[in-house]
Amino acid sequence: MNLLIRPFENGDAEAVAEVLYASFKTYLGELLDKKDDADDLRKELASHDGDVMRQSFVAVADKCGIVGCIECTMLPRYRLGILERIGVSPEISGAGIGRKLFEEGMRFWRKHDARKIYTDVSSINPGAKRFYEKMGFSVEGMLKNHFFDGVDEYQMSLFLKPERKTAEKPASPVDRQNVEKIDQEKTL
Ligand SMILES: CC(C)(COP(=O)(O)OP(=O)(O)OC[C@H]1O[C@@H](n2cnc3c(N)ncnc32)[C@H](O)[C@@H]1OP(=O)(O)O)[C@@H](O)C(=O)NCCC(=O)NCCS
Repeated sequence: MNLLIRPFENGDAEAVAEVLYASFKTYLGELLDKKDDADDLRKELASHDGDVMRQSFVAVADKCGIVGCIECTMLPRYRLGILERIGVSPEISGAGIGRKLFEEGMRFWRKHDARKIYTDVSSINPGAKRFYEKMGFSVEGMLKNHFFDGVDEYQMSLFLKPERKTAEKPASPVDRQNVEKIDQEKTL
């Protein structure tokens, strides 16, 4: 399967709403009674108001169209990234699309110098909790009866290590001579 991960565009809202609804229905069942309104999604998934940046990415598979989405938020003031939501079409979950979307999210957060990524996941969704653990998250806390009575939310985080930069090569004697020459020229 050829898969393309690209930024969300306004025209994607309907298809993304379908994917998110189908994927969240897998564990929320009757608790999910309303489809995400495509107009709200359009506003939510790509915005930038200075202190809060939002960027969403979609996974597009040939023949199938949009099969997944990740919604990423960045709070630059706190260098905090938030994984708001991720969903993959139930028919092709387990094929590595969630990981690819997450990796794209990581590129976005790293680009904005995040030091920590936060998300939460329902206690009735052990599969997604396992997915987040595989992505490097661990549980920091729990919110009791949070979105629904009887359903707790795990708060999960991932602390980012600074990316290792390749060590600068010590200047060779020839380079050093050139630097000295330039310095001499500057002082002339
Ligand atoms: C959670 C979700 C996004 C994962 O996407 P996916 O495409 O199925 O995940 P991947 O195939 O990329 O899996 C990545 C890793 O997570 C693991 N994983 C994914 N789903 C899992 C599950 N249900 N149970 C156990 N492990 C799971 C995979 O085994 C894989 O590990 P590996 O690389 O070591 O083999 C997807 O199942 C989904 O849309 N779920 C419904 C919506 C949801 O729960 N969203 C999260 C809450 S916001």
